[in-house]
Amino acid sequence: MNVTIPDYLQELVYYSGRLNMLEFLQLLVQRFPGQVTFSTSFSVEDQVIAHEILHNQLPVELFTLDTGRLFPETYSTWNSTNSRYHTQIKAYYPDYRNLEGFITEKGPNAFYESVENRKQCCFIRKVEPLKRALQGNAIWVTGLRAEHSPERTGHQLVEWDAGNNIVKYNPILHWTTEDVRKYIDENNVPYNVLHDKGFVSIGCAPCTRAIRPGEDFRAGRWWWEDVSKKECGLHVSNA
Ligand code: ADX
Ligand code: SF4
Repeated sequence: MNVTIPDYLQELVYYSGRLNMLEFLQLLVQRFPGQVTFSTSFSVEDQVIAHEILHNQLPVELFTLDTGRLFPETYSTWNSTNSRYHTQIKAYYPDYRNLEGFITEKGPNAFYESVENRKQCCFIRKVEPLKRALQGNAIWVTGLRAEHSPERTGHQLVEWDAGNNIVKYNPILHWTTEDVRKYIDENNVPYNVLHDKGFVSIGCAPCTRAIRPGEDFRAGRWWWEDVSKKECGLHVSNA
């Protein structure tokens, strides 16, 4: 089904370039009440945005896609975020019927065996739940950062996501690693301790490793695969 790009996209692009993150989020919640949602994986990037929303008590829903294969440290960050901000981040889970079928047929670690299996696992555990999470919303806020991979330089601060028929806002797309660390330190924001152990981009435990100095930021994601295949399908650049 083809959905036309909404008329207000250009206006949002205009304002996003002139307002700071808080001001622009305020504009979004006024303009789209109850229809602004933020996806968090509890990465250090996502914690910046979570702080901005929760500290300022903005009416933006926070949700996470619990794949069932996250690191214990990620669950701890989820818990400490709920406690620190007295909130309840909404959890989305894979459809158990899809998961049961897939795991029964292919076993629990099929993602190492082929790119096809890996993409199927990502689809079941992340992409399908994301589609449910985005339903009924007009704006999807993410913690994408361009520095993380060359493919991501194709993203815009505000962009139309044709795959999900939603306007995406990536407020820290152009922040550097130093900008992120500074914000976290200055605001004493809880973060995933794996970031202090060489982990940069953190996803599911079996599919993420720490990186060595000088390695590409996403070298630790699906490290056994060809570089060109390293996306799980959550973020498809329209560039
Ligand atoms: S991924 O496509 O490789 O998995 P990445 O880990 O870089 O994505 O995260 C980019 C953004 O995608 C995050 O800032 C967050 O908005 C969203 N995201 C990724 N994983 C999840 C998750 N498990 N739950 C919710 N949002 C997620
Ligand atoms: Fe499955 Fe790995 Fe994708 Fe997580 S990152 S959904 S475990 S293939």
